[in-house]
Amino acid sequence: MAAEAYWLDGARVVVTAGGTREPIDPVRYVGNRSSGKMGNALAVAAAAAGAHTTLITAAQPEPALEGIEVVGVDTAAQMHAALLEWLPGARILMMAAAVADYRPGRTSPVKIKKGSGPWTLELEPTEDILQSLHASGVRDGVFVVGFAAETGDLEANAHAKLHAKHLDLIVVNDVGRSDIAMGSDYNEVTVLDEHGVVDRLARAPKHDIAAAILAIVRTRLR
Ligand code: CTP
Repeated sequence: MAAEAYWLDGARVVVTAGGTREPIDPVRYVGNRSSGKMGNALAVAAAAAGAHTTLITAAQPEPALEGIEVVGVDTAAQMHAALLEWLPGARILMMAAAVADYRPGRTSPVKIKKGSGPWTLELEPTEDILQSLHASGVRDGVFVVGFAAETGDLEANAHAKLHAKHLDLIVVNDVGRSDIAMGSDYNEVTVLDEHGVVDRLARAPKHDIAAAILAIVRTRLR
């Protein structure tokens, strides 16, 4: 029983969580509503299965998570750099973070004063972390689970992302709902692989959803 429970004993698992914050000036940022709770729950589930777990998060977990190595980041670029450092040698990557797709073209070193008229903020694209890690070979040998944040055509959009980002599994959630997903303690997700739907997980606490996702990963690693 004990050996079964600790099926990830000796393995390293990396989880990302939270919404990155892309600075405009010392007090303002471009960000999103991701709370980091889904990633935290995945890290807890991986650690409970015996994995040496690293949580790279743009949302500091409260309270502190026992037995999990927490690496705090702010921006997409910092999350990318942290992954380059922590991913080598990992067995599983679960990319639950809501990474900003755009950042301010320049960050002001001083607080920008208000003017009297409208203010136009120019944004530039960030790098797609999953695609970049794939292209550079850093993900070779790592089982990669991506997440898809969608408000419509959930399964079709998730499937397209699974292919574009070369994922083993993708977990899609409806971020337009207030009773699940971003900020909520609950989630309801569909898990897909290259062939289509693997499982639909009904609305449940994120810790239960995380355990169910990890159980699916386990069947794939056998
Ligand atoms: N992701 C990433 N790098 C980015 C943006 C997203 O690695 N710059 C990852 C996320 O962590 C997630 C997956 O890609 O695991 C899908 O993220 P999502 O926000 O759903 O999709 P995007 O690729 O950003 O596409 P869109 O915003 O157009 O839906």
